[in-house]
Amino acid sequence: MNDKKLIFSGIQPTGTFTLGNYLGAVRNWGPLQDEYNCIYCVVDMHAITVRQDPAKLRRNTLDSYALLMACGIDVEKSILFIQSHVKTHAELNWILCCNTQFGELSRMTQFKDKSKRHPDDINAGLFTYPSLMAADILAYNADLVPVGADQKQHLELARNIAQRFNQRYGDFFTVPEPYIPEKGARIMSLQEPAKKMSKSDDNPNAVILILDDKDTIIRKFKRAVTDSEAEVVYRDGKDGINNLMTIYSTITGKDYAAIESEFAGKGYGDFKLAVGEAVADHLEPVRTEFARLSQDKSYLKECCAAGAEKALRYSQRIVSKVYHKVGFVDKG
Ligand code: TRP
Repeated sequence: MNDKKLIFSGIQPTGTFTLGNYLGAVRNWGPLQDEYNCIYCVVDMHAITVRQDPAKLRRNTLDSYALLMACGIDVEKSILFIQSHVKTHAELNWILCCNTQFGELSRMTQFKDKSKRHPDDINAGLFTYPSLMAADILAYNADLVPVGADQKQHLELARNIAQRFNQRYGDFFTVPEPYIPEKGARIMSLQEPAKKMSKSDDNPNAVILILDDKDTIIRKFKRAVTDSEAEVVYRDGKDGINNLMTIYSTITGKDYAAIESEFAGKGYGDFKLAVGEAVADHLEPVRTEFARLSQDKSYLKECCAAGAEKALRYSQRIVSKVYHKVGFVDKG
């Protein structure tokens, strides 16, 4: 390989992404491909730490894969694969589990939250989830990991595991750094703009899904909660308008001042419509490409297989060395 830094990231197989996932993360992944070596993974093994319907998980995993391609991940430039296709993740996970402390895992806030939400299924996989995430990253000796705020604690733990392993067995793993994109926007709910936009929101009007059609997108923006003023300006306390301005600015590249003058003297109605149209038009090619890829299942499966093979070849070298380091007998 070349001397570019290596980026690794994983995404949950939810089948479709929210506008928040898209503008905050996935949209930035495409442009990174020229500057870095990129490895992206759909993490179906992480997904089963909470109960899943098997048929739905299978469908959502393949849909997520196709969506990443539709969002600009180029399978020739990057390695794009499904986690369960590459056995080294599970293999390294076991070794990392044996180098992770019960106390460390107990402190993870996501574990505590998810345990509260699923009190009848606090399984061991949910508990050791961060160790699998560390294995994803360390199996490639990735330099950089783009993560949102909710995953920072897990990445910090991955760094600690890498450092501990290096101390015990001699310097080996690259200690991964978080990658904070320059333009990572934080998108809020359209109905409760103090809350992050989340796919699991009970109110469908709060969330734009990137596969929503144009009419749906415009309708949701029209219903977006704003305030009782009528001025399109970015100001403290105007959470709803601020969020719409962030979205509009991220999509069009216009700054807040330009947006304020564009809508000076106009009402919220005009502004919401403009935001809705800009978003819908921007997402149109993603939707079209996703539809095209979804029709061609055999091509998609080929891409998955080729990605998995590349990922396996890459990670196998690293995991074999780890096996040796911890004292497993070489195979032959
Ligand atoms: N845990 C991450 C999430 O829920 C997904 C993930 C799994 C990941 N493995 C990863 C992210 C490795 C970055 C690197 O969003």
